[in-house]
Amino acid sequence: MVKICCIGAGYVGGPTMAVIALKCPDIEVAVVDISVGRINAWNSDQLPIYEPGLDEVVKQCRGKNLFFSTDVEKHVSEADIVFVSVNTPTKTQGLGAGKAADLTYWESAARMIADVSKSDKIVVEKSTVPVKTAEAIEKILTHNSKGINFQILSNPEFLAEGTAIQDLFNPDRVLIGGRETPEGQKAIKALRDVYAHWVPVERIICTNLWSAELSKLAANAFLAQRISSVNAMSALCEATGADVTEVSHAVGKDTRIGPKFLNASVGFGGSCFQKDILNLVYICECNGLPEVANYWKQVIKVNDYQKTRFVNRVVSSMFNTVSGKKIAILGFAFKKDTGDTRETPAIDVCKGLLGDKAHLSIYDPQVSGEQIQRDLAMKKFDWDHPIHLQPLSPTSVKQVSVVWDAYTATKDAHGICILTEWDEFKSLDYKKIYDNMQKPAFVFDGRNVVDAEKLREIGFIVYSIGKPLDAWLKDMPAVA
Ligand code: UDX
Ligand code: ADP
Repeated sequence: MVKICCIGAGYVGGPTMAVIALKCPDIEVAVVDISVGRINAWNSDQLPIYEPGLDEVVKQCRGKNLFFSTDVEKHVSEADIVFVSVNTPTKTQGLGAGKAADLTYWESAARMIADVSKSDKIVVEKSTVPVKTAEAIEKILTHNSKGINFQILSNPEFLAEGTAIQDLFNPDRVLIGGRETPEGQKAIKALRDVYAHWVPVERIICTNLWSAELSKLAANAFLAQRISSVNAMSALCEATGADVTEVSHAVGKDTRIGPKFLNASVGFGGSCFQKDILNLVYICECNGLPEVANYWKQVIKVNDYQKTRFVNRVVSSMFNTVSGKKIAILGFAFKKDTGDTRETPAIDVCKGLLGDKAHLSIYDPQVSGEQIQRDLAMKKFDWDHPIHLQPLSPTSVKQVSVVWDAYTATKDAHGICILTEWDEFKSLDYKKIYDNMQKPAFVFDGRNVVDAEKLREIGFIVYSIGKPLDAWLKDMPAVA
């Protein structure tokens, strides 16, 4: 029986391995992690991540051919294929600070693999890493190999959170990069055979190592670039009276462009986009390509601009001050159908409003108060370390309360900011909400989820990203 071990039981490792176990009953899959809390949660009824469909998949395989364990060394030593899916934070100090990936966790995983291995292994990069990481890992493994043969493959994951299980069941493509040697090709085939249990072979793309590593960064950069493009347009729409939804629809009808990923928003978030682009920028700079680096940097700059623009709009509309005012924040996760808050635009928006002394009442259906307090107190980039190693802030942010429903959050509030597109925000009783708010009552829709006309009929002053402005908002222009 083929044995797979995955180091790192996070958003990528957990769901991916659960699906491999489900689709390959003849393979034994162990997911290991240094975080005891995380592994305990994977072994409980309350999984550590919220992902539609994940519970069912885990329930079907756990204890049969899917195991979650903290015994990292045992499972690594027994495995034929070792996936590595550990954290790759952005460096906060030293060379490349603020851009380059910190490969500390990767390096320690590689050294541990070399230490405990007694048989040949295929080592697969699953988490996104900078181009040429495979080469570094290969060096660590071969210099410590005691004669064992290691083959490195790059097999980047393209799943998106919220649709992870669907994406894994039915991927657009699976990408496997490896060495162009006979041993490298044999390793590629072994991994291709795993995916071929359920993925049509024509969707399994095999390339060299560097192409696979770069393709992942490139795909995320292209996706993020689309959002920054439409968000840049949203600012122009507001200035000119055009409607960004109409513009996106018209643009997306061109089959060369396509309709997906053209929703204007308060900004993109998530663990990948910013980190991967910063990585790309750093790699370009290191390779003497400053023009290319600057091109990609703009994608992040526009994203930051969009978040600042949103905060400025809120403050300027409310008589240029939110000091002491209660603002309800609906949605904190970086997108709907996930409890993940990594790099969520809500963090910057909330920090911006807190900087203007607002009082925030935050509601998200999947994010705990503890997580929100942690996010608002944490320094940039600190989030991307294993949970038990994250620096904890001693104090919680005082002007923030976290509540468990939208009606409590909005009671007596002056304004509402919608920051995540949860479906339930479309069908709230906005008349009831309006009646319980201070007047004038404002809604700032950072995701274009509410029916602005209906809300205006109720009496709200409404701001929707990239849509023609209310007379009120035109009279209170936001100055960046
Ligand atoms: C992304 C990539 O899609 C995935 O392929 C990769 O493996 C990991 O990074 P993820 O971060 O889970 O996945 O979510 P995604 O759906 O890409 O959304 C990222 C951010 O962009 C979210 O904050 C989302 O709200 C925002 N977004 C997305 C928009 O603002 N507008 C859109 O049209 C689409
Ligand atoms: P991703 O979104 O890429 O899956 P996560 O942060 O959710 O990232 O998961 C990475 C996981 O890797 C964390 O649970 C962390 O505890 C684990 N991890 C980091 N370093 C090691 C290591 N050396 N051995 C085992 N697990 C590790």
